[in-house]
This record gives sequence, C-alpha cells and structure tokens, in this order.
Amino acid sequence: MAIDHKNLYDSEQVSMDYGNRDYLEPAEETLITELGPGMLAAMDMLDMGVGGGRTTKYFAPLVRYYIGADYAPAMLKVCKKRFAGDFNFIECDARAMEGFNDNSFDFVLFSFNGIDSFSHKDRMAALKEVQRVLRSGGIFYFSSHNLNWTGLEGLFTIKNSIKKISASDGKRENENRNPLMHVLRGTKAAYRIFRLNFLNRTVDMKSFIDKLRRNEKGDIYDNSLNGIASIYYVTPKEQKRQLKETGFIDIFTYSRSGIKTDNDELLSQGGWVYYLCKVSKP
Ligand SMILES: C[S@@+](CC[C@H](N)C(=O)[O-])C[C@H]1O[C@@H](n2cnc3c(N)ncnc32)[C@H](O)[C@@H]1O
Repeated sequence: MAIDHKNLYDSEQVSMDYGNRDYLEPAEETLITELGPGMLAAMDMLDMGVGGGRTTKYFAPLVRYYIGADYAPAMLKVCKKRFAGDFNFIECDARAMEGFNDNSFDFVLFSFNGIDSFSHKDRMAALKEVQRVLRSGGIFYFSSHNLNWTGLEGLFTIKNSIKKISASDGKRENENRNPLMHVLRGTKAAYRIFRLNFLNRTVDMKSFIDKLRRNEKGDIYDNSLNGIASIYYVTPKEQKRQLKETGFIDIFTYSRSGIKTDNDELLSQGGWVYYLCKVSKP
C-alpha cells in the first residue's frame, strides 16, 4: 500500500528537524546570483513545500512579496514560530492550489525535492498548477532526484549500507574497535538491503534501476524518509519533457553544486538536479 508522504512530513520530529536547517543549497545561491537583487526585488514569490523555512531567511528579504506554503500543518507551525509574524505562510497542496488565483506570482520555488513525494500523475498536476499561478515570464526553480545518477546502484550495496550504519554510530569510538560490533553492523546492513529489495519488489536492484531508466522515471524506496515511502526519480530528459508538456519554456539544468550545465555526464555525477524554467502565456 502506498504511504502518504504527508503523514511523514506532518510530524513534530520531522518538522523540527527541517526547522533547524539554516543554509542555502549551492544551486539556490547560484540562482540568487543569477537573478540579481534588481530582478528579485520586482518578484512576488511562492516558496512551495517551504518545510521548516530553510529558504525563507534568504529569499524573503530579497523579493517584493513572499509567501511560504506547505501541506503539512506541523511545518507551518515551525515556520510561524521561527519567523514570528515577519512573513506569510499558508497551508496549501501543490497539486491543487485552490487558494491562489491564476497569474499570481513571478517566481515559484519548490526546493529540496519536495516534488518527488508525488506519484507521476500528481507530479503532472502540480506542474500544471505551478504553470497556472505563475505570470507570463515567471520562473519555476525546483530540484528532483536524478535517475541517471551514477551512484544510484551504490545505495543498495552491503558496503554502502555498512558505511551508513557505521557513520550513524561512529561517535561510539570504543565500539568501532569491537569485532562484535562489526558482526552486528554486517547483520544490520544485510537486513537493510533485504528490506529495500523487499520494498522495491526485486532481488536485483541493478536490473530494477535499469528498467526504470529505460522508462526514464519511477518510484524507488531508497531509504530516505526512513525507507517508509518511495521517492520519484526522473532522468533530466524526461523532466524536461514533462515541463514542456505542461507549458514551460527556456529550461535549464543545474548540478546540486550550482553549476549550470546540460552536460549529461556532469549531471549524472549528482543525486539531484535543479531545473529552472519559464512560463510564457498569451
Ligand atoms: C524535503 S522537504 C523540503 C523542505 C524545504 N523546502 C527545504 O528545502 O528545507 C519537502 C517539503 O515539501 C512539502 N510537500 C510535499 N508534498 C507537498 C504538497 N503536495 N503540497 C505542499 N507541500 C508539499 C513537505 O511537507 C515538506 O515540507
């Protein structure tokens, strides 16, 4: 049974974790530099899937009008407390933005792969909604999990699993030297891989990923969100196609490290890709 991501995000623990984040992703810094203060100051911005307000502090003071939106009330509670009445926050589902009229914004941000918590059908609905609420000439910037990422298969190896488990209890130095701890970690890692295979309904993750790649998109349980829910992965080629289909033009890609490039090899080195695109309306 598919798990609704909203239940995962709408929790005190997860919202507090996001509320403690206080940095910009390099690709977000690149965008701010690229747009420049003059352009940003003339923009009405919707920060969709605002989470705990990580991006608010950096974008809100730069734009003409700022509103953060999220479908998880727990996230909005964190934002309202964090920014104590300075900025607007509203409960809104990206797939049906009933609270917003057509042509309301110049800039929609949907950062940190929030869009990957949807099914394919819902993703297309959200893209149409973003297109609808943007004015002609308005821009959409978002990130998404990269199905072409060369490191993707590596997420599902015992070696990687042991590394992750060791990192999470790495602070207990004395245990790191204990051979029993190695056995325990090996067992935990094997269980983790078994569980991911089970959730993805496969015994061969490599073939599973190859199949999704042939389809250019698909849902993967990759152990993010505690492995409870799947994440949508897409190739840059398919993502661009989806954007064109929903009325976006002038599509550019950026690596997570903030390099603007359409070089497939370069983009494949990263687990996320950022997309910048524009709306043109009659
Ligand atoms: C990975 S978090 C990122 C939060 C924040 N943008 C950041 O960069 O720290 C994704 C956010 O998107 C929100 N989200 C997911 N699906 C949504 C939807 N359909 N409508 C509105 N918000 C959504 C989640 O509640 C969560 O706060």
